[in-house]
Amino acid sequence: MDGNGRWAARRGLPRTAGHTEGEENLAALVRHAVTRDIGWLTVFGFSTENWVRPRTEVRHILGLHKKLFGRVAELNDLNVRIGWMGRPFDSPGARTPKYVQQAIRKAIRDTSHNTGMVFTVAFDYGSRAELVHAAEEARLAGETISESAIWQHLYQPELPPVDVLVRTSGELRISNFMLWQIAGARAYFTDTPWPELSGAELDAALAILDR
Ligand code: IPE
Ligand code: MG
Repeated sequence: MDGNGRWAARRGLPRTAGHTEGEENLAALVRHAVTRDIGWLTVFGFSTENWVRPRTEVRHILGLHKKLFGRVAELNDLNVRIGWMGRPFDSPGARTPKYVQQAIRKAIRDTSHNTGMVFTVAFDYGSRAELVHAAEEARLAGETISESAIWQHLYQPELPPVDVLVRTSGELRISNFMLWQIAGARAYFTDTPWPELSGAELDAALAILDR
């Protein structure tokens, strides 16, 4: 979900205002996605590299994730099951504060009965770290390293391969997101900053599956 900072800067607003708007737009796009044939929606909320940002910005983004995972009533209305993927909270270097951990755990528990779209938020996520983790878990379990062994030890083994990857705000990069899972994905790159990505443009991104 890239371009929150630039969206805000163009309006003379602080970066934090862009993140707030981005979170609102994410909620709107989740509402849109459930009206489409989307079984799985996964978003990159915060990377393992993002911790080096200014402390006030990180604190603001943490608060927004608490808010996002707090949208349980809304998710239940939409029959959406929320999930999370990222570095395990107890792993060395993991920094997710307790109050965010609790919001994540509670949201997962309180939406676990929903049968509609699975909405996964990558928070403190990095794909290379995920792959190292998967290989290590497979090794510890005494398994032969194979493609299926790696799949089974990803942070969210239930997630299917990605069909469409969307990158906003004019960046023509992948940035360490789901490298294993996007092997066969179509990609949709747009100049639109994340806070302005509309449902119609999400539809346009999905339409590349028909091409
Ligand atoms: C995305 O917006 C949010 C996070 C990475 C947490 P950015 O903060 O990357 O916005 P730009 O790239 O500065 O515009
Ligand atoms: Mg960015």
